[in-house]
Amino acid sequence: MTNHTIQSLNSQTLETHLASLAGLLKINVEDGASVSFILPFGYDAALAFWLDKVKPSIAAKKRILLVAMIDNELAGCVMLDCDMPDNQLHRADIAKLLVHPKFRRRGIARALMVEIEHQAIAHNRSTLVLDTASEGAKILYESLGYKVVGSIPDFALNAQKLQLEPTIIMYKLLK
Ligand SMILES: CC(C)(COP(=O)(O)OP(=O)(O)OC[C@H]1O[C@@H](n2cnc3c(N)ncnc32)[C@H](O)[C@@H]1OP(=O)(O)O)[C@@H](O)C(=O)NCCC(=O)NCCS
Repeated sequence: MTNHTIQSLNSQTLETHLASLAGLLKINVEDGASVSFILPFGYDAALAFWLDKVKPSIAAKKRILLVAMIDNELAGCVMLDCDMPDNQLHRADIAKLLVHPKFRRRGIARALMVEIEHQAIAHNRSTLVLDTASEGAKILYESLGYKVVGSIPDFALNAQKLQLEPTIIMYKLLK
C-alpha cells in the first residue's frame, strides 16, 4: 500500500484543493468513468460541480468529502451524502469514489472506503447505499462487504459512447 493520508475537507479546505478536485473529476470522466457526466466535459464544468453542488452541501453539513493525498498530490476522493428524509436519518449514500489513474491499484480506494465508513458510524449512519457501473469498483465494494441488490438496465448514458448502460445497486449495513 502506498503512503497516503486521508483528510476530511470543509468548505474552506475544499477551496484550497479546488483545482486538483476539478482535475481529478475531469480526468476520470475523460477516462470513461460513469459518474454523472458526459463528454465533452471541460475544466469549468468540473470546477462548477465542486463549487456549486458540493461546497454548499459541505458547508451545510449535509455531505462529507474525503480526499487521499500522496506527497501533496490529490490521489483520490469519496463523498458521503447524508441529506436524507426525516425517516431515513440512519442512511447515507456513497458517491464519487474517484482515484487518479496514475495512483490506481495501490489501495487508495479501499482506504477511502474504510475511512468513509468510520465517518458514517461517527454520524450515526448505519445503512450505506451506492450504485456503480464499474466492474472493478463492484469487486472492491464486494470485498468490503457490500451486497448487490440488483442491476437497473438503461440507467445512465455512458460518458463516451452515449449509449444507455446499466448500474448495479449495492448496500451495506454497518452493524
Ligand atoms: C474503481 C476505482 C475507484 C478503484 O480505485 P483503486 O484505488 O485503484 O482501488 P484499490 O487499489 O483500492 O483496489 C482495491 C481492490 O479492488 C479491486 N479492484 C479495483 N480496481 C479494479 C479493477 N479495475 N478491476 C478489477 N478489480 C479492481 C481489486 O480487488 C483491488 O485489489 P488488488 O489491487 O489487490 O487486486 C478506480 O479505478 C476509479 O477511480 N475508477 C473510475 C471511477 C469509478 O468508476 N469509480 C467508482 C464509482 S462507483
